[in-house]
Amino acid sequence: MSLIRGGVAAVCALMIGAAAANAEELVSYEIVDGTIPASLTGQPGDPAAGRKVLFDRKLGNCLACHMVSDLEDQPFHGEVGPPLDGVADRWDEATLRMLIVNAKQVYDGTIMPSFYKNSGFVRIAKQFEAKPILTAQQVEDVVAYLMTLKD
Ligand code: HEC
Repeated sequence: MSLIRGGVAAVCALMIGAAAANAEELVSYEIVDGTIPASLTGQPGDPAAGRKVLFDRKLGNCLACHMVSDLEDQPFHGEVGPPLDGVADRWDEATLRMLIVNAKQVYDGTIMPSFYKNSGFVRIAKQFEAKPILTAQQVEDVVAYLMTLKD
């Protein structure tokens, strides 16, 4: 009995440790009226780097779900989400940042992944730890690129 209890305590301690380590990696950001007005890095992003994140399957993989005319050199464009052409005319930068960080804050129940969020997962072991898909820098690069998509 005490052995089992000891085991459970050890697992709990591990989970708390993992959560703390993970939380440190995330830059904190302030949500204002459902948007994130300030750059996560304190710097403007690089649109050319952001363009690459959009079609890199290990990073944004945005083209799995979105069509972007500017990326017509890339082979596959999905239709699960709306085309991103002209998206800078529809949304301001602060809302686009919120959308990339955590799309569910903008579209309740959307299937679009949250690219800079690691809470809300149950952590079992270190190797299954949920890391954000993009770094703060990559989020800013994507936002900077999206801001170039005007009709
Ligand atoms: C699994 C599919 C999927 C992936 C991957 C995905 N999205 Fe989305 N995205 C959606 C869907 C679906 C919507 C529409 C919201 C809704 O109705 O749920 C959306 C909406 C958007 C919008 C708002 C478009 C508009 O006109 O209102 C932007 C901007 C956007 N996504 C950017 C991105 C970027 C940038 C990436 C990659 C970093 C990405 N998405 C990855 C599915 C996806």
